[in-house]
Amino acid sequence: MKIAVLGASGLVGRAMLSQLEQCCWVDELPLLLTSNRSAGTKIDFNNQELVCHAVNEDSFDDIDIALFSAGGDVSKKYAPIAVNAGAVVIDNSSAFRMDSTVPLVIPEINPTASKGIIANPNCSTIQIAMALMPLHKEFGLLEAHITTMQSVSGAGLAAQQELENKSVTELDIIPKIGAPLSDGSFTEEDKVVNELRKIMSLPELGVTCLATRVPVWNGHSAAIRAVFANEVDREKAVKALAMFPGVGVAKSEHDFKTATEVTSKGEVAVGRLRLDSTNKNALLMWVVADNLLKGAALNAVQIAGQIVESGS
Ligand SMILES: NC(=O)c1ccc[n+]([C@@H]2O[C@H](COP(=O)([O-])OP(=O)(O)OC[C@H]3O[C@@H](n4cnc5c(N)ncnc54)[C@H](OP(=O)(O)O)[C@@H]3O)[C@@H](O)[C@H]2O)c1
Repeated sequence: MKIAVLGASGLVGRAMLSQLEQCCWVDELPLLLTSNRSAGTKIDFNNQELVCHAVNEDSFDDIDIALFSAGGDVSKKYAPIAVNAGAVVIDNSSAFRMDSTVPLVIPEINPTASKGIIANPNCSTIQIAMALMPLHKEFGLLEAHITTMQSVSGAGLAAQQELENKSVTELDIIPKIGAPLSDGSFTEEDKVVNELRKIMSLPELGVTCLATRVPVWNGHSAAIRAVFANEVDREKAVKALAMFPGVGVAKSEHDFKTATEVTSKGEVAVGRLRLDSTNKNALLMWVVADNLLKGAALNAVQIAGQIVESGS
C-alpha cells in the first residue's frame, strides 16, 4: 500500500505521518510531498529519515492513497491528476467538500468505501458533528447554535510562529475566520453550517455559527445550544454520547475538559452538558478536540483505513 502525503512539512501533514506510523496496514514508506520551499527537508518516520520532494504532475504514479493537506488551490490542481493516476485522494482542504459528487466523511458517522476524491471536513465541523450525531439519533436534532473558539494551529505553522512572537498584552479573541460573505458571515462559519447539514444528511437543519480565533496553541473548543424535536433527558443524552465511538462525556454538569487537555488525544470530549432552563427540548454543551488529530489527520487516516479495509 503506497501512500503519499502532500503537505508533509505542515502541521497537518506531520500529524498525518504520526498517525500513519501507528497503522498496521502501512507496509511501505510513504512519499512526502511539499512545495519547492521544503524540498530536501528530512522528516522522521518510524525512526527513518524521509526526504520531502517538490510535488509535480508525475508524483502520484504508483500511489494507492494520497492524503492532501496543502491548501485548496494545490488540491484543485493535483487531486484530478492523482485520481487519473489511479490514487484515492483524501483531501483536507475545502476545495471539494460541498461538491455533490464528493463524499464528505467522518468515519463514525458516514463511512465510505468510495474511490476518486473523498473530502475531510472542516476541523470544527468534525468535533461538532461527533457530539451532535448521537444526540440527534436519540432526540431528533432541529437546530444547533454554535460559537467556536479555534486555536492558532488551525491556521497552520505560520500562525503558531506569529503567536510565539506576541507578548501577553497583545493576546486577543478575533471574531472572524476566513473571508467575508454577503450575508454578514465569514467563510469558516459557512463551512460549519453547510458541512454539518451534508454530513448529518439534514439539509434543513437550522444552524448558526460564530467562529472565533483564540490565543490557544492547539485544540478547538465549541459552545453549542442544540434544540431537538423531542424532550431531552440528560441521563439518556450522557449515555448516547458515552456509547458513541470516539466521543467522551463528562458525567456531571459541572465537569469538562479543555482543548489543551485533549491535545494529542483522538477523542472528542463533551462537557458542561446541561438542560436549557428556557426549553425542555434543548441542551447546552462544551465540545473540545485536537483540531490536528480528529479535526484533520486522524479523521483522514481513519478514512484511509476504511478504504484499505474495503479493498478498494
Ligand atoms: N491546521 C488545522 O487544524 C487544519 C485542520 C483541517 C484542515 N486543515 C487544512 O489542511 C491544509 C494544511 O493546513 P496546515 O495547518 O498543515 O498548514 P501549514 O502548516 O501551513 O502547512 C502547509 C503545507 O502545504 C504545503 N504547501 C503549501 N503550498 C504548496 C504548494 N504550492 N505546493 C505544494 N505544497 C504546498 C507546505 O509545504 P512547504 O513547507 O513547502 O511550504 C506545507 O507542507 C489546509 O488546506 C488547511 O485548511 C488544517
